[in-house]
Amino acid sequence: MGPATTEIDALFTAAQAAQARAYAPYSRFPVGAAILAADGSVHAGCNVENAAYPVGACAEAGAISAMVAGGARAIRAILVIGPGEELVTPCGACRQRIREFAAPETPVLIAGPDGVRARFSLAELLPASFGPANLPK
Ligand code: THU
Repeated sequence: MGPATTEIDALFTAAQAAQARAYAPYSRFPVGAAILAADGSVHAGCNVENAAYPVGACAEAGAISAMVAGGARAIRAILVIGPGEELVTPCGACRQRIREFAAPETPVLIAGPDGVRARFSLAELLPASFGPANLPK
């Protein structure tokens, strides 16, 4: 079952609060992400850039770290919020990071300052993906 409207609202609020704390002095492109875990808990992250540019981390990676550190392991939905007019969809590496803890049908919601703009399933963003079950037992 997909997230309820109140759960989406909670994700949006948490992602927006994290976005406001983003450390993005180089790109000036603050991103926030929030995860609704299977146990109902919400975990947020923001992008954290670095003077050594490639070392910067995406908001989604931070939210996943917060979820795992918080004791949850299953993503029921994830919401990403960015600035500007274009959709801020997760980068390829973060699609794979999400994949580790999500199902093909897990919703990935993309928001802007105005609210949720688009909704994808993880499988739409990362088809024929490689996950834990693809490794030998
Ligand atoms: N970024 C994210 O944190 N998540 C996304 O989904 C897209 C891009 C960050 C990386 C970098 O700090 C800045 O946005 C510009 O690419």
